[in-house]
Amino acid sequence: MMANNQPIGFFDSGVGGISVLQAAVALLPQEDFIYYGDSANAPYGDKTVEEIQGLTARAVDFLLAKGCKAIVVACNTATSAAIDLIRETYPQIPIIGIEPALKVAMDHTSQGKVLVLATLRTLQEKKFQDLSDRYAQTRTVIRRPLPGLVEIIEKGGDFQEKSFQFLQRALADVDKDVSAVVLGCTHYPFIKPSLRRLFTGDTLIVDGSEGTSRHLRDVLAEKGLLAEAGHPGSVTFYNSSPDPSMIDLSRALLQEEAR
Ligand code: SIN
Repeated sequence: MMANNQPIGFFDSGVGGISVLQAAVALLPQEDFIYYGDSANAPYGDKTVEEIQGLTARAVDFLLAKGCKAIVVACNTATSAAIDLIRETYPQIPIIGIEPALKVAMDHTSQGKVLVLATLRTLQEKKFQDLSDRYAQTRTVIRRPLPGLVEIIEKGGDFQEKSFQFLQRALADVDKDVSAVVLGCTHYPFIKPSLRRLFTGDTLIVDGSEGTSRHLRDVLAEKGLLAEAGHPGSVTFYNSSPDPSMIDLSRALLQEEAR
């Protein structure tokens, strides 16, 4: 069987994609991962499509120059705005994106309410709108952008308490008896403990990190690109921010307890 020990590249507008990286490392411990966070330009949620496409192409170039065999766009906003373009630009390499885990939430409820949290850019994307409109025939789909939340998480420190206070205000008018909450931004899984304080134990809180990681594994297997069994995997972080504490924050988030 063919094997390939080149690294897998991960990219996000900042540290959020580390929630997806955690799931990928757990599933593929023999792989080397290179994570590039573009914290100098975070958040992407309020940028134009053209700006996001330019920043995404720059990040992909960076990861290809490091010899990556596949790229995971671990950012919902960059996936919405740029994945089609970068797949066209770099046809030689598998490029995996992330989408809000709507199906998992919808399978959990046949008639209930589902709350989708994501950036405005992701919520406005046609593919997302078509899918959610389809489900909205039998369920109530509430879409809520949370501008300002990514910035709180990017600052690190006591982001959990700060995000709880932010969510209390931002979701004050939202029913707390929803069947499911979909985390459509890769930063949000890190604040699951804060969301748990707002929604009851019956509410399913879902994100796309495990589904994306399984998809990554399947694509690598199909193309004969998995690393050798027994290869000691590793994770290397890069960040566009000149602040060296972003690398410390990245390492700390990778070690966060299972959420
Ligand atoms: C952002 O940078 O605004 C959020 C990234 C995401 O959608 O995952």
